[in-house]
Amino acid sequence: MVEIEDLKRQVAALAKKGQRRLGEADSLNACERLRVEFLGRKGKITELFQLLPQLPQEARPEAGRLINTLKAQFQEELKLRRAELQAQEIERTIEEEALDVTLPGRPVALGRLHPSTQVLRKIFQIFSKMGFQVFESPEVETDEYNFQLLNMPPDHPARDMWSTFYLTQPGLLLRTHTSPGQIHVMHRFAPQPIRAILPGKCYRYEQVTARAEMMFHQVEGLAIGKCITMADLKGILVEFARQMFGEQREFRFRASYFPFTEPSLEMDIDCPLCGGAGCRVCKYTGWVEILGAGMVHPQVLKNGGYDPNEFTGFAFGMGPERILMLKYNIDDIRLFFGNDLRFLEQF
Ligand code: FA5
Repeated sequence: MVEIEDLKRQVAALAKKGQRRLGEADSLNACERLRVEFLGRKGKITELFQLLPQLPQEARPEAGRLINTLKAQFQEELKLRRAELQAQEIERTIEEEALDVTLPGRPVALGRLHPSTQVLRKIFQIFSKMGFQVFESPEVETDEYNFQLLNMPPDHPARDMWSTFYLTQPGLLLRTHTSPGQIHVMHRFAPQPIRAILPGKCYRYEQVTARAEMMFHQVEGLAIGKCITMADLKGILVEFARQMFGEQREFRFRASYFPFTEPSLEMDIDCPLCGGAGCRVCKYTGWVEILGAGMVHPQVLKNGGYDPNEFTGFAFGMGPERILMLKYNIDDIRLFFGNDLRFLEQF
């Protein structure tokens, strides 16, 4: 026989114990273990129910209520403790994984435009103000465009001026200059007037030296219209030199020869590296050539679809890397494509 007073003591002790143990539980797993310990099939509270048959008949309803209250109380306390621990867990995760947005970030290594690109943009800027539009033409060219339509039939000795990389496919080559672009633009626009510049890379099978690379840029210029004269050509070249190099720098024009212009000229800028005394960049002359130019040959106008009795035009081809050398006193053209950041980062 179990007395009701005895059971009351056991209920009170278990209630106290449950509270204490729940207070000590430091994780959700510990809570689960307590649930099994108190409420499981062989749990402490479940075992109290098994005492009921041993109580006197009249005490059983009260005892049942007491145990049920204990059970409900424990369940409620368990729920609260679980919620508390869950909140602590969330709090800890937030704290541990928190981002300090005020910390300075790692600096991003910024790239920069290659000096050739920078000077090309400057060239576009100068010529666009004079009404020239930028066009592109292919780097892999046909013999026809690179030579024949520029007045150099097969076996013409002037082809020797452009040592050429030929492709294995007959008739194809890497363009030696941007001049074939003249013909592309003429074919596109004839018989409209033209003012165009054509930038791009050129390739020559040549000895690489301090002033000559095997791959370099050129910017071709072409103007076609009625009454265009040599004075127009000289005017825009002088204006270009002033805007690119400033008023102080000296330049000169020399008579020259190109099969696709007649007459032809070349433009030189004073050599800043030796101040005129002579060095390997200026070939000991005190002057460095930056471009070839001339009045478009009547045969080339015809090849482009223009009537040379009606139209005239001028063309020029300049070397941006040479221009950079003269603008910034760079004594070796190989630096531009040597991929040395110590050099490139100075621009
Ligand atoms: C020509 O290529 C002609 N097509 C230019 C031309 C165009 C004349 C239109 C008349 C009318 P030339 O080979 O001189 O010409 O080259 C022109 C410019 O390109 C040179 O003045 C120089 O600035 C640059 N250049 C030529 N060869 C090299 C090289 N190997 N490395 C770097 N720049 C070069």
